[in-house]
Amino acid sequence: MPLDLKSLIQLRLGENYALHEQHLNSTLVRVQRIIGYDEVYARAEGAYLYDRQGRDYLDFLSGYSVFNIGRNHPAVQRAIREVLELDLPNMVQMDCSLLSGLLAEALLKRLPPHLDAVFFCNSGAESVEGAIKFARAATGRSGLLSIDKAFHGLSHGALSVMGDAHFQEGFGPLLADCSRVALGDLAALEEKLARRDIAALLLEPVQGKGVNFPRDDFYVEAQRLCRAHGTLLICDEVQTGLGRTGRWWGFEHWNLEPDIVTVAKSLSGGYVPVAAVVTRRAIYQRTFNRLDRCVVHSSTFGRNNLAMAAGLATLSVLEEEQLVERARDNGIELLRRLNALKEWHSLIKEVRGLGMMIAIEFHEPRELALRMGWKLLHGVEPELFAQMLVTSLFKRHRILTQIAGHGMDVIKILPPLISGEREIDRFVSALDAVLTDCRSFPGPIWDLGASFIRHAIKRPKSEPAVAAG
Ligand SMILES: Cc1ncc(COP(=O)(O)O)c(C=O)c1O
Repeated sequence: MPLDLKSLIQLRLGENYALHEQHLNSTLVRVQRIIGYDEVYARAEGAYLYDRQGRDYLDFLSGYSVFNIGRNHPAVQRAIREVLELDLPNMVQMDCSLLSGLLAEALLKRLPPHLDAVFFCNSGAESVEGAIKFARAATGRSGLLSIDKAFHGLSHGALSVMGDAHFQEGFGPLLADCSRVALGDLAALEEKLARRDIAALLLEPVQGKGVNFPRDDFYVEAQRLCRAHGTLLICDEVQTGLGRTGRWWGFEHWNLEPDIVTVAKSLSGGYVPVAAVVTRRAIYQRTFNRLDRCVVHSSTFGRNNLAMAAGLATLSVLEEEQLVERARDNGIELLRRLNALKEWHSLIKEVRGLGMMIAIEFHEPRELALRMGWKLLHGVEPELFAQMLVTSLFKRHRILTQIAGHGMDVIKILPPLISGEREIDRFVSALDAVLTDCRSFPGPIWDLGASFIRHAIKRPKSEPAVAAG
C-alpha cells in the first residue's frame, strides 16, 4: 500500500517524544522535558506554530534563523510543487543543471561584484568546511584563525575553529594549526597574522553565541591586516545572512569585502537543506586547478533541484516583501522598546543586536529579594537564570526563544523577518510580565528555577544543564 502520510500523522501525532526517546536523541528529549519545551506542534504558518488544540506559539527562534521568510511560505511551496510536477532531471551529476546555474546567478546579484563563483552544499557546517578547504588550497597555508566564542558548525573542521570548548570535549584530536583571538584584540590578531602562516580568518559578523559584535572598526582593521599578511577573510553569514541583521549580509554593516562568504540556513526558506560557499573566481580555481581535480571538492546532493528552486523562490520573497528593510526597521523598534524595559527592570544589563538578531543580557539586580533568587541559581549553573526566563516566556506566554549560549545570562531572539507590530508587542509585553513576576521571591517563577536546580544537581556532569542552540 502506498504511504498515506496524512493518515499516518493523524494516527500517531503525540508519539513524538516517545519515538525520539526510543530511537533518536534521548538526552535531548530529557532536556526538553526539563525545560518544558516538550510540546507537540501540529501546524505552522508565518511567525507561528500551532499545537493540536490550535493554540498559537510565537516563534522567535525561527529554527535557529532558518525561517527568515516565515514558515510554510506559499511562494516556496509553489516552487517545490512545480519541481515535482515537472519531472525534472535531478542530480545527473555529469551535466550542468539549469536551476543551480540560476540560483548561483541570483545569489551573486545580491553580493558585491568581486564575489563571482559559487559552490553549493547542504549545511552551514559543510559550507564552512568548504571555505576552509578553499582557503587552504588558495594560500598554500594551513593556519586558521577564529574569534573567541565563535560558532561555525559541528563537523570536525568547523569544530576546530569553534570558540566554545564545551562543544569540542570528547571529539579530539581536531584540526591542527587553529587558534583564536578575542573580539576586538587587534594586537593579538596582528601578532598571529604576522607569522604569515594563516590561511584564513573566520568571523561571524554578529556572533550567534551571545550576539556580540564590535562597536568600533575592529573588523575593518582585521580585514586590512589580513590583506597585509596574505590571509583570506571568511565571513560566515550562515546565521547573519539573507536579511537577518537588517542588511542583506552582516558584513555590510562594516563595508567589508570578504574573500569568502558562507551562506545556509534561510536560503531555502526552511524546506530543503542548502548552503553555499561564495568566493572570487581566482580563489575557487585554486581548488579546481587541474582537470583531474574537477570534483576534488563536491557534494552529491549539493545542487539538487528542490533546494535550488526553493532558494530561487526564497530570494525573490525576500526582495518582493522587502524583508531586509523590514528587519532593519522592526529591529530598531524592538531595540527601542526593549531598552525602554531596562528603565523598569534592573535585571536587564544590556539590550544589543542588529536587525532581527537581538540579545537581552541580565545581571545581578538591585532589589534584595531578586538578588537572593539570582544568587541561588548562579550558585548552581550560570545559565539557569536565563533558562528560567526562556521557559516562563514559553509556558506562560507561548513564545519560543532560547538562551544565547553556555554560561551566559543572555536570552536571544531571532524573530522571522516578517514579524511586525503584533509580534513585537506580544514579545515585549511578555518579557515585561516575566521580569515583573521575578520580583515576587519566593514565587512561582522561582519555583521553576528551583526545579532546574534539582535537575542540575542530579544530572551527570557530562549532560548539559540546558540546551543552547
Ligand atoms: C554562523 C554559523 N555557522 C555555521 C553554522 C552551522 O550550520 P549547520 O547547523 O547548518 O551545519 C551555524 C549554525 O548555527 C552558524 O550559526
